[in-house]
Amino acid sequence: MKPFYVTTPIYYVNDIPHIGHAYTTIAADVLNRYHRAVGRDTFFLTGVDEHGQKVEQAARQRGISAKQHCDEMYQPFQELWRRLNIKPSAFIRTTDADHELVVQKAMQRLYDQGLIVKRTYEGWYSTSSERFWMEKDLVDGKDPDTGQTVEWISESNYFFLMSRFKEQLIGHLRTHPTFIRPKSRYNEILGFLNRELDDLCISRPKNRLSWGVELPFDRDYVTYVWFDALLNYVSALGYLKDDSTNLRFWPANFQLMGKDILTTHAVYWITMLFALGLEPPRHIFAHGWWTVEGRKMSKSLKNVVDPHILIDTYGPDIVRYFLLREVPFGQDGDFSHAAIISRINADLGNDLGNALNRSVALAARSFEGKVPAPSGDPTPEDQELANKALAISAKLGTYFDDYDEADETNSKNILQFSSALEEIWTFIRFINKYIDQQAPWQLAKEDKRERLATVLYNCLEALRYAAVMLAPFMPDKSEQLLTIIGLKPTCKEQGDLIPQELMWSTLQQWGGLTSGLIVKQGEILFPRIEPEHIKTLLREILTQAENEDKALKLFMDIFPRYKPGKAQSLIQEIMTPDSVTKTGPPESSSSTSQKMAKSALPGPDRELEYETFARVELRTAEVKSAERVKKSNKLIRLVIDLGDEERQIVAGIGLAYTPEELIGTKIVVVANLKPATLMGVESKGMLLAASDDQDNIYLLQVDPSTPPGLRIK
Ligand code: MSP
Repeated sequence: MKPFYVTTPIYYVNDIPHIGHAYTTIAADVLNRYHRAVGRDTFFLTGVDEHGQKVEQAARQRGISAKQHCDEMYQPFQELWRRLNIKPSAFIRTTDADHELVVQKAMQRLYDQGLIVKRTYEGWYSTSSERFWMEKDLVDGKDPDTGQTVEWISESNYFFLMSRFKEQLIGHLRTHPTFIRPKSRYNEILGFLNRELDDLCISRPKNRLSWGVELPFDRDYVTYVWFDALLNYVSALGYLKDDSTNLRFWPANFQLMGKDILTTHAVYWITMLFALGLEPPRHIFAHGWWTVEGRKMSKSLKNVVDPHILIDTYGPDIVRYFLLREVPFGQDGDFSHAAIISRINADLGNDLGNALNRSVALAARSFEGKVPAPSGDPTPEDQELANKALAISAKLGTYFDDYDEADETNSKNILQFSSALEEIWTFIRFINKYIDQQAPWQLAKEDKRERLATVLYNCLEALRYAAVMLAPFMPDKSEQLLTIIGLKPTCKEQGDLIPQELMWSTLQQWGGLTSGLIVKQGEILFPRIEPEHIKTLLREILTQAENEDKALKLFMDIFPRYKPGKAQSLIQEIMTPDSVTKTGPPESSSSTSQKMAKSALPGPDRELEYETFARVELRTAEVKSAERVKKSNKLIRLVIDLGDEERQIVAGIGLAYTPEELIGTKIVVVANLKPATLMGVESKGMLLAASDDQDNIYLLQVDPSTPPGLRIK
C-alpha cells in the first residue's frame, strides 16, 4: 500500500491555540488515523512557526528574548494536541537546527541556480507597521493602518524568481482539476494567476528584523518567514539531509490549511517546489473559518473560544466530533454551545447511545450479559443490516482518499468529513430502526430465544462496525464502545496508534464479533448534558448577555426543551454567586426549579457544627449608594460601608425594592463570599434576604442604631 502523508500549517507562537488551530489539526489527525486503520504507513506533520516579525514582537512585548518566548510558547500547542487525542508523527519547530539547515541549503541551491537574485527596491516604508506601502494605499501620505509617517527608502533585498514558474503552475492546475479543494478555491487561484505574478522578496535586512534564518550567501539578511516556514513540509521528512532527495512520504497526499493562507501555499509553495525540482502535493485543501455565536472570533471581542474549556466541559472526542460534523469542510461555520449540546443530546445520546443501551440491556436481561450466538439463516432484514454495514464502511474511503487521476466526479466527496459522519449516522439510525422492527422485547415475551439471539447479535455486531468507523473521529469513545460490547482493544505492538480491534480489516466480513463475550452494563457512553452539569460555563455565557431577555434567549437556544418559566429560575440559580461551586449529582428533571434552588441549601433539619457556621463571615453594613444594573430589572448595585472598608455588591432584589429606599438601610451581608460577576458587574459579597414561594423578597434589616461592620455570630 502506498504511504500517506498529511500536513497542517505550522502555527505562529505569538499566541496560544484556539479552535481555529484545533480544527485543522483534528481534521489531519482523523485522516491519519483512518489511513493507519486501513493499514497504510502514514506520516502526519504539525508544528509551530517560530520566526518572523509577529513572534519577535510578541517576545518584545513580554520583555523576553525571542528564543525564550518560543521555548515556552510551543508547549501549549503540544499540550492541546495531547488533550485532544491528536497524535502527530512529528512536531516541527522552525528553530530546530535541522530545519534551519535545510532552509539554508535550499536557499543556496536556488541562489546557485540563479533563481534567487539581489535587487534594489524603493518604496514608502512605515516603521510603525514594518512594511512597504504602495503610494495609492497611503492615507494623507501616511500609513493607512497606523496613521504614522512613512519614509521613502531604497533597500536591497533578495528575490525568488517566482514569476518564471507562473505558466508551469497554471499548467499544473489545468491538468489537475482536483489539486485545490474546494472547487471555488481552485477557481480563485486560477483567477489570481490571470494577473501578473511578481517575484517574491524572500529576505529581510537584519537591521529591520533579526529573528530569522540567516541567508547562507549574505549574513546581513535573514529569510522571509514564509519562505522558511513552507519548507517545513519537506525538512521534517529529511529533505537535503545527506544530500538525498528521495523523500519517502513526498508528495503529501493532503496539505490542509485555512482559506486565508491558501495563496501562500498554492502559489509561493508550489513554485518553490518547482524550482527545487520536487513534485507538488496531491491536494491542497483550504477550509473555512469559525465565527463564534455569529461574530468574528477576536481578542478585542473577548470571544476567542478556548479549546481547553470545551474539553473540560464536553470531553475531547465530542469537540473533535462537533467541529467536523457541524460544518462542511471548506465552508465557514459558527460555533455555539447550543449547537454542540444539541449534537451531544441528539446524535450521540439519542441515536448512538440509545442503540447501545437497548442492546446492552437486552443482553443483560435475556443472555446473562453475554453476546449471544446467532443461528438460522439471515432474514432479508438481517441481510440488509449487514449489507449496509459493509457498503458504508467501504464507501468511507471516498471521503478520505486522494485521487491519482483527474477524477472530478468522485472528487466532490474529498474530505467531506461531515458527509462521512452523516453516512455513519444513517447506519446508526438504521440499527435503531432494525431494533424497532424486530421488536426483541416481544420476541423475549414469546420466548423465541433463537431469533432473539440472532437479532441481538446483529445489533451488537452493527455497533462494532459503528465503533470502527467512528474511531478516527472519536478514538476514546470508540474504544469505550468496544469495551461495552465485551471486547478488549489492544495494540499489537507498543506504540501502535490503532488497537487491532479498530483496524479496518476487522470489517471485511460481517460476523466478526465473538459470541460469549461479556457486555459491560451501566456505562453511559454519552451522558445527556443538562444545565446543572455545566453551571460554570453557563454562568460565563449568560454573563455576556446584555440583559435578562437576552440571557433567557441564550439559555433557551442551548436547552430548547425547557419552559421559559423554569429556564428563568434556573438562570437565577446559576447566576447566584455560590451556586457554581456546588457539586453533586444533577437534580432529577422532574423537580421544579424552586425545589432545586432550595434543595441546594442545607435543609432545616440538618445539624450544623458551630465551627462550620463560624466560617461564614456575617457582618452588618450600611448601604451608602444604590443604583440599578443597566438592562436588568432585578439587579441592584450597592456600595456598602463595612466599618473598615467600602465595597460593591450586587443583589437580585430590584423587583421588590427601589435603589432609593435602600440607601441608608442597615443590612446583613456575607462578607467572605468569593467575588462573582453578575451581568458584567462584580459583586464582593452577598446581602441576606428571605423569599417566599411566590418569589416575594424581604430584606433582612438590623436595628438602625447598629454600627456597620459588626460580626454577627
Ligand atoms: N504560520 C502561518 C502558517 C505557516 S504554514 C507554512 C500561520 N499561522 S497562524 O497561526 O496565524 O494560523 C494558522 C491557521 O489557523 C491558518 O490555517 C488559519 O486559517 C487558521 N485559523 C485562524 N483563525 C481561524 C478561525 N477563526 N477559524 C478557522 N481557522 C482559523 O498563518
